[in-house]
Amino acid sequence: MVAITFISADGSERTIEAEEGLSLMENAVGNGIDAIEAICGGNAYCGTCRVYVDPAWQAIMGEAAEIELPMIEVSGDETPGVRLSCQITVAGEHDGLIVRTPASQGAS
Ligand code: FES
Repeated sequence: MVAITFISADGSERTIEAEEGLSLMENAVGNGIDAIEAICGGNAYCGTCRVYVDPAWQAIMGEAAEIELPMIEVSGDETPGVRLSCQITVAGEHDGLIVRTPASQGAS
């Protein structure tokens, strides 16, 4: 299992034990992280699964993939480290990852 911490816009934190091979979005939804709405079910088509990768993790996580860019652009969200969590596959190297969630997606 991989420990991943979600920090909501109001500063509240939750750490989940994520399952490798599933997306970050699937892990968040499965663990009741309400700030990950994921309306499109992981098809990179809604932008409601956005997370902000902690600065310390951005080099490891890399830039948003090509498939993520249209929805990020439509959302108008230019926050550094923004990614679609449905397009991030959790792996062992992500143990300790910290992501923040947008205020527009509610509390964690
Ligand atoms: Fe819709 Fe990620 S779940 S874009």
